[in-house]
Amino acid sequence: MSEDPTRYEGGQPTTPYLDAVVARGLRGSTRFHVPGHKGGEGADPGLVGAIGERALLLDLSQGQEGIDIGPSPTPFESAERLAAEFHGAQRTFFLTNGASQGNHALCLALAPHGTKVAVQRNAHASVIDGLVLSGGTPVWVAPEYDEEMGMAHGVTPAALEGVLDANPEISTVFVVSPTYYGSCADVPALAAVAHSHGAALVVDQSWGAHFGAHPGVPASAIASGADAVLTSTHKTVGSLTQSAMLHVAPGDRIDLGRVARCVRIVRSTSASCLLNASLDAARRQLAVHGEALLDRTLTAASALRERIDAIPGCRVVGDFSHGANGAMEWDPLRISIDVRGTGRTGFELAQDLRELHDTHVELKTQATLVLVLGIAQPVEQMERFSLDLAGVVRRGEPSSTAVGAIVRPPEVLQQGTSVTPREAFLGVGEAVPVDLAVGRVSCETIAGYPPGIPALLPGEVITDELVGYLRAILESGAQLHGASDPEFTSIVVMAGDGS
Ligand SMILES: Cc1ncc(COP(=O)(O)O)c(C=O)c1O
Repeated sequence: MSEDPTRYEGGQPTTPYLDAVVARGLRGSTRFHVPGHKGGEGADPGLVGAIGERALLLDLSQGQEGIDIGPSPTPFESAERLAAEFHGAQRTFFLTNGASQGNHALCLALAPHGTKVAVQRNAHASVIDGLVLSGGTPVWVAPEYDEEMGMAHGVTPAALEGVLDANPEISTVFVVSPTYYGSCADVPALAAVAHSHGAALVVDQSWGAHFGAHPGVPASAIASGADAVLTSTHKTVGSLTQSAMLHVAPGDRIDLGRVARCVRIVRSTSASCLLNASLDAARRQLAVHGEALLDRTLTAASALRERIDAIPGCRVVGDFSHGANGAMEWDPLRISIDVRGTGRTGFELAQDLRELHDTHVELKTQATLVLVLGIAQPVEQMERFSLDLAGVVRRGEPSSTAVGAIVRPPEVLQQGTSVTPREAFLGVGEAVPVDLAVGRVSCETIAGYPPGIPALLPGEVITDELVGYLRAILESGAQLHGASDPEFTSIVVMAGDGS
């Protein structure tokens, strides 16, 4: 018997929720409840053929006795508790609408209407959407910026301190670590700064669900002093797409009941049991075999980095020494390749890799290719990749667009909103020609990749400098994410904003 009576007996090697779903789903029960496909017999044969009978048999609705309702702890509660135990959390919430759902819920819980929160400027779009839902006002914390590569990284403790000193009423800080490029902030120092100002620290660790599972990967944000942490389990660990977890650290900086209510508000009442079961299974795999799987993957990844560095014109990005660009560590499952020396753009190389080798990268930009490895990335694929990339580089003709200059984002990106993102996004908007939009309040979010910093957010005043920056980004071959007019000839601004 375990000491904690609520602890699921058997511990981390067990999967109580997955087991309960399998036991009930496969035993041939008569189903006079949703979903309408009735375990597959009522489904279109094309779907049955595509995803298999078992997936449909296991696709049970919520509210099943002995799975997610009944005597506590139910298998669902036990599964969340095992995840909390493994991640060192006071409480873990399974999310079936991705880490996006977690950001929405955390904004609703911790950044309500009338409050100011500190937000890393290159936070994920779901944080901005969360603020639209909640009505909170962001005060931006500028990320470190790598001029050479045009990449935005994390925020430094000094940058956070400056914002919190100037805004003592802030009670929550939202940061991202690791970033899309794999650089990790100094989370212990950020936590110390936030806490010394009486604020809670939320770390969006979506890209680092594997953190803490091997000595060769960065420590988890929970173990580093964060108060709430998101892990997008589907990104690097083996759960199904759209499944993620929200962890609340031990302590009382976060109102657990309030977070629970807010998670519920942004969750379907018919959350997918397949997604939840996949989270239970992914937690087991990470807890029981994560270190061994990562050991193999990290060894192969390190060899892959060396082989990529040996390809003429290619260089793996990431100064693995502490402190460069504010990054204390780098995620070894991320391989960002600077391809400028090849005379070709990342877009062109990605297209050749796709068309010639059926190989697909996570992100391509003018200057880079970015690979994301899973904790159990097949080693043979990593061995093959460097040969494929070398061949693609060797065979391609240098292109005229490859030498485009990196466009530096203007300082104006730190200006702050003139009205809340909620007012601007939900208010009445009108599309106006871009040249006439200067001085008006944007209803849109527009981000250029690279650098991935949202250039314009709902509630911000559009300036000449910003328009020039967005045009330069487009001319450099990058894309404007989120713009209602991808050609950037018009932009939606608040109607009647007095300008
Ligand atoms: C930093 C960050 N947070 C949150 C998300 C949203 O994650 P999900 O796709 O699981 O909703 C992403 C997605 O890429 C992300 O990059």
